[in-house]
Amino acid sequence: MNLITDINFKNKIALIRVDYNVPLNSNLEVSDNTRIKNSLKTINYILNNKGSCILMSHLGRPKGEGYEKKFSFDNITSTIEKEIGKKVTLIKNYIDNGSSIKKKINRGSVTILENLRFYKEEKLCDKKFSKNLASLADVFVNDAFGVSHRKHASTYSVTRYFKEKCVGKLIEKELYNINRILKSKSKPFTAILGGKKISDKIDIIKKLIKTVDHIIIGGAMSNTFVKALGGNIGSSLYENNKIDTAIILLKEAKKYNVKIHLPEDCIIANKIKFGCKTEVSYSNNIKKGMMNLDIGPKSINAFKDIIEKSKKILWNGPMGVFEINEFSNGTYKIAKSVSNTTKKGAFSLVGGGDSVAAINKNNLSKNISFISTGGGSLLYYISNGFLPALKILN
Ligand code: 3PG
Repeated sequence: MNLITDINFKNKIALIRVDYNVPLNSNLEVSDNTRIKNSLKTINYILNNKGSCILMSHLGRPKGEGYEKKFSFDNITSTIEKEIGKKVTLIKNYIDNGSSIKKKINRGSVTILENLRFYKEEKLCDKKFSKNLASLADVFVNDAFGVSHRKHASTYSVTRYFKEKCVGKLIEKELYNINRILKSKSKPFTAILGGKKISDKIDIIKKLIKTVDHIIIGGAMSNTFVKALGGNIGSSLYENNKIDTAIILLKEAKKYNVKIHLPEDCIIANKIKFGCKTEVSYSNNIKKGMMNLDIGPKSINAFKDIIEKSKKILWNGPMGVFEINEFSNGTYKIAKSVSNTTKKGAFSLVGGGDSVAAINKNNLSKNISFISTGGGSLLYYISNGFLPALKILN
């Protein structure tokens, strides 16, 4: 794959696929600008080398039937301008007139296209739509690690219409750090996986079983494992159709001598609400009507013990419903433990919106070796060893 340093951008327009799928608050303002900040190196490199930038991204999951206020780039353009320190022109209608827009692009300018997913053609990887996007520019740059597992028009088929194409600095850094965690020989290697569903994480667990020493499982996905082992999980969320998979994964781990650690105890409640009454319970003996919503004190200590002896740590997914104070302690303690262990010299990589939010919320980011901008794409890359949108650039 070409890197941006392999391309001469002088007097050329670069079409840059970025991932500005950023969280917005209830006033539709950007509440976390990490992804915008992480795109600056590529943009500045191109501007400093006398090129112009056209940025394109999706935001959220609109219907694909045109403009929707809450997903419009009207909400994020001023934040992008502030970060870049330059005027950014938002273009709303670009579906059929790429080449006429291209003629109006000034040298050294930054332009952004309105949310790609307002057009259904984006997700359909439509040929005409891709061709039109390509007619806007001279060079294609993919710097959208977080969406490179998607075969969409702007990530995948657009690449076919460019002679000059490359990955940007954000992707370069992501690949360097992910390969660093997968390929370095330091041990023990601990993976911490959380979140709701094991169905999202089956492939990565299968892959990690062959590489890691410990897999710590928290969040609602642990309920499916506890149930598979015959535990009583009360009214906790679980995936009935993944019980057999959980058993297979536990057997597979045994075969490779990998320890899967499930929470021994948990914090339970009968509703997910700020201020609700909570109790500590054994995870395999939860009362009727109650749900496991966070890991309990015994699990926190056991997990900390494993994390703090590790030399490499990969973390994806929260330990509970961490957005609600009553159930945030487990995820916070794990974040703290990962950060302490990193301070002592371990290499840590954290990815996925919720785990990264937990790190940021607790101001722990400076003690994490690398924070990935990817969630699904990070899991895809580790599980499969490639990303479709990068493979096609090769
Ligand atoms: C993400 O936030 O994970 C990426 O932007 C991908 O978004 P998507 O899951 O809606 O394709």
